[in-house]
Amino acid sequence: MRRLGDRIAVVALMLLLVAAVLRISWEPKPGSGAEGQIRHSGPAAVAVASVGMVGTSLRTLARARGIRIGAAVASGPLHGEPRYAEILRHEFNVVTPENAMKFEWVHPRQNVYAFSDADAIVAFARANDMQVRGHTLVWHVSLPRWLTGGNFTRSEMRDILREHIHEVVRHFRGQVEVWDVLNEAVADDGSLEKTIWLRGIGPEYIELAFRWAHEADPQARLFYNDNGGEGLGRKSDAIYSLIRGLVQRGAPIHGVGFQFHINPESPPNTRAVVANMDRLAALGLEVHVTELDVRIKKPVTEEKLDAQARIYGSILGACLSARNCRAFVMWGFTDRHSWIPLFFPGWGAGLILDEFYRPKPAYGALMDLLRER
Ligand code: G3I
Repeated sequence: MRRLGDRIAVVALMLLLVAAVLRISWEPKPGSGAEGQIRHSGPAAVAVASVGMVGTSLRTLARARGIRIGAAVASGPLHGEPRYAEILRHEFNVVTPENAMKFEWVHPRQNVYAFSDADAIVAFARANDMQVRGHTLVWHVSLPRWLTGGNFTRSEMRDILREHIHEVVRHFRGQVEVWDVLNEAVADDGSLEKTIWLRGIGPEYIELAFRWAHEADPQARLFYNDNGGEGLGRKSDAIYSLIRGLVQRGAPIHGVGFQFHINPESPPNTRAVVANMDRLAALGLEVHVTELDVRIKKPVTEEKLDAQARIYGSILGACLSARNCRAFVMWGFTDRHSWIPLFFPGWGAGLILDEFYRPKPAYGALMDLLRER
């Protein structure tokens, strides 16, 4: 009798333990934002409580499909909001510092470099087995005043750019595997943007930038990155011929970044996107989706979120079907931290989690597509 009583007690204890474990795993944490979430039905349905906590992640599924998946990272929330870091490490295996590696941030005075924010992002990535996409060595935006207000000769501008690239790439050698060397150098009409670099050095600055980056880290994968040239048309043709010229001259370039800052009112033609990826593959180049977001005009409605989800799915689908698309990176992951409301008043909600870190239909669309075989 006593033995039977002991057994019953042990079984009861085990049942209690299992119940407790299940409760811990599946209940949204208080304040996590997962409470009261609308569950979307149909193909975009997701286990809302599992984002960033337990369960299958985007990164696990993406790895099985042979691509990396990631997001741009802002320094403030990475250090200030535990949930932000928790979701990042759970869901993604590549990160792009949103601003921390830009010229203005890392090179604020002529002979002064400031790497602490960027170093912290790189350390976070390494600790969580994530690749870093360095962004960006040469751009005409977010430049420090000492540079834009200086009156430098052509040879001084060359020296400034060479030293900047050498210093930054060497600092991260072996830790940043991919660099957006050159950002947005082609205008919508296909001409070269009349930037401080074009005016100061001449068109040769482009090839020089790739060569200098390669000198500083011969192992790094070097990319040209742009927006609005993802499909076929005047701008993408101009980008293509610029890149083909670099390849033909033996410049060290390994890929092209397709940014995709888009909106549901003018969705991309995914056939044209795949064709564009394909002609770059024929040059021996990789393609990364580098900055995807799909901004919505307010008010945000379920219909608009569903349309947004379809666009996210179509871009991921294009990447999965192209032979050379190896990474799918979004320009953030939560509407809590996004450049969109600041730069496009009246628009927002461009990312896959809402501002309370709850998954939107777009998150479900990516999960569903990555699961498909
Ligand atoms: O950090 C300062 C803050 O101290 C100050 O009070 C505030 C007032 O203006 O500015 C803050 O800096 C802003 C920074 O974003 C952080 O929010 C800069 O002014 C602002 O210019 C900067 O904008 C960034 C923009 O690039 C220019 O560098 C956006 O965050 C960033 O999302 C955006 O990213 C670009 C990619 O690099 C290239 N492709 C397009 C993409 C979207 O524009």
